[in-house]
Amino acid sequence: MPDYRRRAAREAMSVRLDVNGMMAEAIGASESQAGMTREEVDELAPRTTEMARVLLARRAAGELPFYELPHQRETVAAVKTAAAAVREGLDTLVVLGIGGSALGTRTLLEALGTSGPRVVVVDNIDPVTMGAALDRLDLKRTIFNVVSRGGETAETMAQFLIVRERLLRELGAVDYQHRVVITTNAESGHLRQIVNDEGFQDLPVPAGVGGRFSVLTPVGLFPAAVAGIRIDELLAGAAWMDTRSQTLELWQNPAHLLATLLYLAEVKHRRNVVVLMPYSDRLRSFADWFVQLWAESLGKAETVDGQPLHSGQTPVAAVGATDQHSLLQLLIEGPADKVVILVRVEDHGRELSIPTAYGDMDGVGYLGGNGLGALLNMEQRATELALVQQQRPVMTLTVPQINAFTLGQLFYLFEVATVFAGGLQRLNPLDQPGVEYGKRLTYGLAGRKGFEAQRAEVESWVARKRGEYVL
Ligand code: PA5
Repeated sequence: MPDYRRRAAREAMSVRLDVNGMMAEAIGASESQAGMTREEVDELAPRTTEMARVLLARRAAGELPFYELPHQRETVAAVKTAAAAVREGLDTLVVLGIGGSALGTRTLLEALGTSGPRVVVVDNIDPVTMGAALDRLDLKRTIFNVVSRGGETAETMAQFLIVRERLLRELGAVDYQHRVVITTNAESGHLRQIVNDEGFQDLPVPAGVGGRFSVLTPVGLFPAAVAGIRIDELLAGAAWMDTRSQTLELWQNPAHLLATLLYLAEVKHRRNVVVLMPYSDRLRSFADWFVQLWAESLGKAETVDGQPLHSGQTPVAAVGATDQHSLLQLLIEGPADKVVILVRVEDHGRELSIPTAYGDMDGVGYLGGNGLGALLNMEQRATELALVQQQRPVMTLTVPQINAFTLGQLFYLFEVATVFAGGLQRLNPLDQPGVEYGKRLTYGLAGRKGFEAQRAEVESWVARKRGEYVL
């Protein structure tokens, strides 16, 4: 196991951002091409430097607490203790949560696997999925981790109520309490009140850290620790990316450069779609995590001072090589409105060699002697060039291996890039007013007190629908 206190170990395991495929030298810079010139990027440097300074100052003032998450030693100790306590005799940890309260955990589990109890994430309220998940459980050997930062999200509370009723019925009022761990904010919300009233074990989400920035809080760390994931290494990776993304020099700062190129692509080159395509099944959920982070943070109607904006690239999750046989045709020849970020994994951690056979068939025989992971990486490189040749902007993130250290870097890289891109757009990347509006309409429909007007709004919409448009 590398010792990440040594700089050489950190350098060797660094995630690298290659932006060659974004630049005019590779893909041209005419009106129809999206290549960026060095001058164009450098022209923005005064603004990016200023933005970096502003963010450093806001960080120092405690306004952006997610920045500090890699350095929270006390939380790590508390999470480890809580995880060790529940692992004893545990078959399954079921995480109940949605959006930012689920996607990071799903990413961690999928990328790094579990050693010990099974950990499953139930992040929807589809009765079939939820019912099937519950049917499989031995409740005496299961812990439910209810995760909601705000503490009143309808989906999560509905899941909790179902689980609570089953636990009470099967285990009784005393034992049921020991089967629930609640992760929520320390101050307010209904879940906090329930913790206070009923005395459940709880893990606080630090104040000011929003759902989609919360994977490195107990939201993701607790299930990860139960799964046996090395959470210190996860945070060490994030801390390393923190070091690398503090410099004011844009061309040395992977997070700021990533954000700046995506910003330019959107506002100057009309690239309204950003596709994240890791060449590894283990990073599928990472692409989903990115989609939520980018969409909810940057899809905004207004700037911070109330000017109309309607910004936001549409993020799309894909996976190589599978989606080479689905999306890639569109990416290469369809509308010139996309930027692609490929993720290349140098060492997949396992290799399957392709046997040599059918030497007389050119279309098959050439595969023999290659490794499957090596072939996957050849496909990544081929896709990169195919995009470049069609003047389609593409960046490549190279990950030496998928492990806790590199995953910590990836999470932190994209979180910092998102906040930086939000700064360049002059929007607030930390709120989600559109989502909140949808939540309020649901509360109204489901009969929550105080939301009668929202219920009337929905009913009026249904009443306004014209029959001839429903087939
Ligand atoms: O990123 C966000 O803020 C959202 O996606 C939330 O995570 C999601 O709405 C769930 O909210 P909560 O954790 O409060 O239940």
